[in-house]
Amino acid sequence: MFALALTAVGAVVALTQPWLTKTLIDKVSNEGRIGGLIVALAGLFVVGAVIDALSQYLLERVSENVARDLRKSIGKRILSAPLKALSRFRSGDLLARATSDTTVVRQMLSTSLVQLFSVAIYGVGTLILMLSLDKTLLLVMVVTIVVAALLVVTVLAGIRVATERAQGAVGQYAADLERILGSIRTVKAFSAEEDERTRLDASTDEAYNGGLRAARLGALVSPAIELAVNGALLIVLLLGGIRVAKGEMDIGDLVAFLLYATYLVMPLAGLFGALATLQQGLAGLQRIEDTKMLGSERRRDYEDRGAANYNLHAPTSIEFKGVTASYDDERNAIDNVTFSLQGPGIAAIVGPSGAGKSTIINLLEQFMTPSSGRILVNGASILDLDPFDHRRMLTLVDQDSPLLDGTLRENLLYGRIASELAAGDERLVEALVQSGLGQFISELPNGLDSRVGERGHALSGGERQRVALARALLTPSPIYLFDEPSSSLDVENERLVAEAIRRLAKAHLVLVITHRAALIQSADSIVVLEGGKVAGSGPIEQLSDNDTLVRAMKGAS
Ligand SMILES: Nc1ncnc2c1ncn2[C@@H]1O[C@H](COP(=O)(O)OP(=O)(O)OP(=O)(O)O)[C@@H](O)[C@H]1O
Ligand SMILES: [Mg+2]
Repeated sequence: MFALALTAVGAVVALTQPWLTKTLIDKVSNEGRIGGLIVALAGLFVVGAVIDALSQYLLERVSENVARDLRKSIGKRILSAPLKALSRFRSGDLLARATSDTTVVRQMLSTSLVQLFSVAIYGVGTLILMLSLDKTLLLVMVVTIVVAALLVVTVLAGIRVATERAQGAVGQYAADLERILGSIRTVKAFSAEEDERTRLDASTDEAYNGGLRAARLGALVSPAIELAVNGALLIVLLLGGIRVAKGEMDIGDLVAFLLYATYLVMPLAGLFGALATLQQGLAGLQRIEDTKMLGSERRRDYEDRGAANYNLHAPTSIEFKGVTASYDDERNAIDNVTFSLQGPGIAAIVGPSGAGKSTIINLLEQFMTPSSGRILVNGASILDLDPFDHRRMLTLVDQDSPLLDGTLRENLLYGRIASELAAGDERLVEALVQSGLGQFISELPNGLDSRVGERGHALSGGERQRVALARALLTPSPIYLFDEPSSSLDVENERLVAEAIRRLAKAHLVLVITHRAALIQSADSIVVLEGGKVAGSGPIEQLSDNDTLVRAMKGAS
């Protein structure tokens, strides 16, 4: 607000200058004493310059603030969005919206809004002063300019459309790049560089064309207005000259009028230039606003994150009652699934690939919602809980054992709140030893401070899997979910992992998805899935004649 007020003051200061000039000329012609006025004029120039600099800085600061707030809100929106909503966007495109589009909006604010505002003040002030000087001349000017403006407005709509297209293409480019970087090994292994480059070039060209079209239209705007205003100026000069010659007008008035008229030229050209930038900024703002449709799965703000308020050692139960769920609303990934698990102990979910095992975990984590049926944890329907609170009861080791770029220590302590971060290095190392990484950690030159690489890819698949397990062992929760925790492990390490899981299951409910005999044999109860349906459930003795189970165990041992 202060910035805008300052701009206003700057405009007023600038506007008094021609008036002083007029007084000056009048005085020269009448009296010849002008020293004081010259000083006043010089003073006004200096004050005007200082105010200009200050107001420009303050307005830039406002635009930076807006850009920061937009980026923060996009970040928050992405973090609280349900997975299903996120999957409707390509991640690269979201990145572009958060970076490139917010930059466009910032530019709009720092350039065009400032211009629009000062033009409004200059314009109105100038018009009033010109009105007091000569009404006829003003009328001539205004008519000429309005005609030109009407033509320009049609161009502005085109700029907006072109910019939206260009920014969309930038998003596409970012998404394509992200796709390539995420699978760079596959791209190279299949010699697909040329194909990928063609794709990239297509979106780059699209952005270029959109940008160029907006630039072409934008380039038309200022000269058109300048031509109109300068034309008007010439007419004023002509008419004014005649009137001065006839003695109907003072020469001082004409000079002041012409000065004000030139004051109008630049801001007016600027005004329409600013309107063009405004269209571009609005296009960016639209793309940012579109991320609102991500929605939020949170029912309360995620800042208020306290210690979890569940009882770690109370017995725990998980129940699925006639649960049906689908990813694409066409094919059911699981169909009318019913089972009941009671902790503490190990519950194994077995079944062929694609049977819907990971889907059970996605449902438990509220990564997706069932189309029908109920899921109860400790007797309460999980859909009645805030996903944020609910997930803190669960510790997940996902199928592809994801780690985050950073050090081993950061990964082991990931997501812990300050009060839980007290784990000393001995506990971290102990968890690694239990997961079969004792040798590994003792040989690392930087120990726990070694970096794991993007998505943990500086580690082998089996190492990654065991770090993920160690992270779970360090995380206190009543329920643990393991999706194929030993799929990349050799027999010896698998034995260690099975042992760690058995220890964990003494006090907690551990749900393990596995094809491995060692883990299946440790299970207190088993759910056999086949084609999205339950093909049997209960203790292993009761299921010994189940084909799927027998095949699962044979296939692995
Ligand atoms: N994100 C997804 N979008 C669409 N369909 C999916 C998605 N994830 C899984 N599916 C489909 O849902 C079905 C069940 O998948 P799920 O991942 O639960 O199988 P799974 O039993 O864990 O298999 P695997 O042993 O290979 O991990 C499969 O037919 C799969 O193609
Ligand atoms: Mg799976």
